[in-house]
Amino acid sequence: MLTRREWMQVTAGAGLSLGLTPRLLEALAQGQLIKRAIPSTGEMLPVIGLGSSATFSQVARSEDVAALKAVFQAMLDKGATVFDTAPSYGASEQTAGNIVNEMGAAGKFFWATKLNVAGRGGAGADPAAAKAQVERSFAIFKQPKVDLIQVHNMGDPPAQLAILKDYKKEGRVRYIGITTTFDGQYGELEQVMRNEPLDFIGIDYAVDNRNVEERILPLAQERKIGVLAYAPFGRTGLFRRVGDRPVPDFAKEFDATTWAQVFLKWIIGHPAITAVTPATSQAKNMLDNIAGGVGRLPTAAHRKQLAEFIDGLPAVERRRG
Ligand SMILES: NC(=O)c1ccc[n+]([C@@H]2O[C@H](COP(=O)([O-])OP(=O)(O)OC[C@H]3O[C@@H](n4cnc5c(N)ncnc54)[C@H](OP(=O)(O)O)[C@@H]3O)[C@@H](O)[C@H]2O)c1
Repeated sequence: MLTRREWMQVTAGAGLSLGLTPRLLEALAQGQLIKRAIPSTGEMLPVIGLGSSATFSQVARSEDVAALKAVFQAMLDKGATVFDTAPSYGASEQTAGNIVNEMGAAGKFFWATKLNVAGRGGAGADPAAAKAQVERSFAIFKQPKVDLIQVHNMGDPPAQLAILKDYKKEGRVRYIGITTTFDGQYGELEQVMRNEPLDFIGIDYAVDNRNVEERILPLAQERKIGVLAYAPFGRTGLFRRVGDRPVPDFAKEFDATTWAQVFLKWIIGHPAITAVTPATSQAKNMLDNIAGGVGRLPTAAHRKQLAEFIDGLPAVERRRG
């Protein structure tokens, strides 16, 4: 675990290297993260959270998880709470559960996990196996309630959502939902959004990946379903696409000083988005991401300008999953 002194050095250094104005540094220090209401209840959630596949999961399965402890500490310090995980992310869920329980802070996070015993778009989910998977998540989190469980990747929605609805009725799960990051599943996702009592969906959304804008995001607004935005950096593809170009000058107008802040603010700039959960294994990047939820947001004109700017850059390979 980092000492307090080491921790202060990480946060002070990160704040300076982010090039934030004194006003934003102050807002960041005070944890003034923007919040959005969960449409089904009005409960407020901070807009920036943490995902746990990618690099997080690589570190989670290693012997030294100190870097991830520092990431959770950064969240606690700055008021970020939403943590997105899944039983299929290797050691992520277990390691994260160990860390937040060791910190005595499990109750302070909005714990969003998933259920999938059917595979991607699969059918025939075995109810006993599904319940065993949910119970395992409860055992890891060690709290009487899990905040959110979503059916992962459209795996047998009728069977798996039925199980989640029962858990919600029993009061053990506060919110339920369904996820996909595959364009080919958006049609089925729409049907489920129209026919099931969902609190959330989880979808992929980024400035170079805007397909959900056409039908999914407007439907979420119409049906009052919260949206968790996944893969906000295109799993590093966006960073590779902008390369070493400086952030555009107009980003100043919405208080963004790094590319991560620009990309995250672009996403939160859409009113249908409840929270965005970039994955990271580094406290300095967690702080950078949190700064993407502080200060002014881009207008519709800024968002269009940025999308055009990114579209004008040579495309890079986008990793799916
Ligand atoms: N179907 C589903 O349910 C589904 C599908 C996809 C994703 N998700 C969720 O969404 C989360 C996010 O998506 P993702 O992990 O695929 O990709 P992502 O968040 O777009 O990208 C993660 C990558 O960005 C880097 N990064 C993070 N913050 C950074 C910063 N400030 N500056 C520079 N690099 C930074 C990370 O490396 P460092 O560790 O070095 O920071 C990591 O390599 C997932 O982890 C998962 O929780 C869910």
